[in-house]
Amino acid sequence: MLYSDIRSSFPLLDSTVHGHPLIYLDNAATTQKPQVVIDALCRYYSSQNSNIHRGAHHLAAVATEMFEEVRGKVQRLINAKSSDEVVFTRGTTESINLVASSFGRQNIRPGDEVIVSGMEHHSNIVPWQLAGASLRPIPFSDEGVLDMQTFERLFSPRTRMVAVAHVSNTLGTVNPVADMARVAHAHGVPILVDGAQAVSHLSVDVQALDCDFYCFSGHKMYAPMGVGVMYGKRERLEELPPYQGGGEMISDVSFEKTTFNSLPFKFEAGTPSVADVLGLGAAIDFMMQVGIDNIAQHEEMLLQLAIEKMSQVSGMRFIGTAKGKVSVVSFLLGSAHPYDVGTLLDQMGIAVRTGHHCTQPVMQRYGIPGTVRASFAIYNTADEVDALCHALQRISSML
Ligand SMILES: Cc1ncc(COP(=O)(O)O)c(C=O)c1O
Repeated sequence: MLYSDIRSSFPLLDSTVHGHPLIYLDNAATTQKPQVVIDALCRYYSSQNSNIHRGAHHLAAVATEMFEEVRGKVQRLINAKSSDEVVFTRGTTESINLVASSFGRQNIRPGDEVIVSGMEHHSNIVPWQLAGASLRPIPFSDEGVLDMQTFERLFSPRTRMVAVAHVSNTLGTVNPVADMARVAHAHGVPILVDGAQAVSHLSVDVQALDCDFYCFSGHKMYAPMGVGVMYGKRERLEELPPYQGGGEMISDVSFEKTTFNSLPFKFEAGTPSVADVLGLGAAIDFMMQVGIDNIAQHEEMLLQLAIEKMSQVSGMRFIGTAKGKVSVVSFLLGSAHPYDVGTLLDQMGIAVRTGHHCTQPVMQRYGIPGTVRASFAIYNTADEVDALCHALQRISSML
């Protein structure tokens, strides 16, 4: 696929904001959607809409087949052993809540511990607290690298789970989750990986990582909002009790006793967001067509360019400078409040995110209120990085 074709696949990128061409650098929050994904949504509602599973009629059969095809696409994307290990959810948040709630009900008692990293998104902290666990955070260096020696020392007889981000949404750090899985398993503890920021940037192989659970959101990988994935190893999912009760997740129901459906349906109560799942399928096709390695290479070029040029802006302070990181650049500019920098960038048509990025413990670690975060995707260009750096120079001289 030609680069110009990739860029022009995203209609929203042609917009103007405050009289400037939009430069969209808020991709870690959500990516824009290619036309093929938008078309999949329109096609479904204009010619395929039907509830799935068990329908005797043609449309139900078509919708079911397309829906289940996407499960196979997700399986291949993350190299799961079986499509039965792929559970559709609303997103990473729901995926983690599902595991924390089901696993917690079975395994977490007051005083039991879950090891998390110090750089987790709130959605990989709060569900474990709701499940009743005490959290043991892994510290990280000023650069944003996890302290693996301390990690090994955090295990105790009460450790029930390791829950860690594959990629930090604030620092961009790629954590060594395969090594962490080895350590966790040596202690007889399962590991859940929050892949929300990884799947759109890296090739993910859940068998190679040997993680027990892997969670991600469609909307951060060019797919619609409202759909995500909870991957779990078959033996883990077989053991877990259902998360929600309702239609589809049952085998037989009576007032005396209910038995549950087989995997993955045991965890998919109620009508799923079929159109969004089909959109996810279209997004996976798009990413495969572009090539994950090509995406990673392009984003690495943008990241290096951004670091080089932004370093020349006076007052620039990067937050998160690990060697292994994806195209997420968090920073502060002199003593300016991140929100002010973000607002001034917006006036120039540049969309970035400001604040704590749902990682308040990271902000506490650095003693800062928040950061400005620019995050790049496959459709961003070197010219856009240049424009960001020029804008930051101007803001720096104004403030
Ligand atoms: C690392 C990480 N985990 C979890 C989430 C939550 O994702 P969602 O809001 O799509 O459920 C995010 C969203 O920003 C994230 O960056």
